[in-house]
Amino acid sequence: MGQCTSWLGIAEIGRFCVSVLGSDQLDACKRFAASSPDKFAGLSHRSSPSGQPILDNVLAWIDCETEVIHELGDHLLVVGRVEHLERERDALPLLFFGGGYHKTEGIKL
Ligand SMILES: Cc1cc2nc3c(=O)[nH]c(=O)nc-3n(C[C@H](O)[C@H](O)[C@H](O)COP(=O)(O)O)c2cc1C
Repeated sequence: MGQCTSWLGIAEIGRFCVSVLGSDQLDACKRFAASSPDKFAGLSHRSSPSGQPILDNVLAWIDCETEVIHELGDHLLVVGRVEHLERERDALPLLFFGGGYHKTEGIKL
């Protein structure tokens, strides 16, 4: 866990805002999945009600206070208490599963 520099900042503040990316936002996803001193540089964003960054043009955002952290093997499961959330636009989400990125029409069961 020593390499997770973004997590150290999130853990210290005790808050985070989830930006739900659309399938047209792969570049932003790749940027945030790699280490960099300022991942937000040159990327338009604004503040959530609790002061955390929200990327512009996301499908939805979820503003949370850290509620509890569970250690699961070599991962941490961070559970957030939702304080605010907003749906912003209707489009296909960016999905990651089976080792790759996907966009898909909703499958109705
Ligand atoms: C789809 C996806 C899922 C990821 N899941 C995890 C994860 O569960 N745990 C983890 O440590 N890193 C995960 N990563 C890699 C982190 O995004 C990456 O290590 C981190 O953002 C590096 O930035 P940092 O140095 O600022 O923490 C994932 C990356 C992608 C693209």
